[in-house]
Amino acid sequence: MKSVIITGAGTGLGRELALKYGKEGYHLILVGRSEETLLEVKKQLNNAIITVLDIRNKHEVDENIRFLFKEYNVVGLINNAGIGIFGPFVKIKENAIEEMFQTNVLGTMYMTQAVLPNICELDGSFVMNIISTAGLRGKVNEAAYVASKFAVRGFTESLQKEYEEKPVLISAVYMGGMNTPFWKGSEHVKDPSKFRSPAEVAETIFSQRQQEYVVIESK
Ligand SMILES: NC(=O)c1ccc[n+]([C@@H]2O[C@H](COP(=O)([O-])OP(=O)(O)OC[C@H]3O[C@@H](n4cnc5c(N)ncnc54)[C@H](OP(=O)(O)O)[C@@H]3O)[C@@H](O)[C@H]2O)c1
Repeated sequence: MKSVIITGAGTGLGRELALKYGKEGYHLILVGRSEETLLEVKKQLNNAIITVLDIRNKHEVDENIRFLFKEYNVVGLINNAGIGIFGPFVKIKENAIEEMFQTNVLGTMYMTQAVLPNICELDGSFVMNIISTAGLRGKVNEAAYVASKFAVRGFTESLQKEYEEKPVLISAVYMGGMNTPFWKGSEHVKDPSKFRSPAEVAETIFSQRQQEYVVIESK
């Protein structure tokens, strides 16, 4: 059975992608820091395991990925985990900037570097990076977050060129607002219920999973 690793699979879009890929017959490896939310998602799937892991820690990433490749037939990685801290740029704290870059950029790179060499020669293999429309254009009060997502875009586009002769598909997904826990505790968006549901976005992503470039604008 083919396995797909999804980071940030305990909530929001990652959870919905896990449920969708599970329905389509994949074995899921659910990655995140909170065991509780990952177990909740695992319960809803017939074939899944959880891997409690902080993607900011390269050593932890490498150890876990080495183990997963020994045990499972991993064919795909969805780099979905990400955080956003918003507000006027000069008020964004240094540790918030670092946390966003460590998670959104370095975490994505660490996961990709650990997984890609193991799958790049396989037909049907893929690395899908969940970015945001914040990776396409600047936005008010999102400077540091947008910078981190532009970095992931540059990373993805470069890998697409580097691996163009290989069977692995490297894709970038740019979506607008979704109604997920991402906005919990943030003043930046007053009413996230106006956004698309992560389930709807997961359906669209799955239907366009063979594309290198997917854009799903806000409603
Ligand atoms: N919601 C939106 O409007 C929106 C719009 C465009 C793009 N996006 C992007 O979509 C992706 C998914 O976000 P979402 O909206 O579904 O938000 P979410 O529900 O907050 O999901 C983010 C997930 O990432 C995990 N995560 C965070 N830091 C991690 C780390 N260091 N190691 C491992 N896992 C980590 C979190 O789980 P733990 O805390 O348990 O680790 C959480 O499950 C993100 O990349 C986000 O930037 C969101």
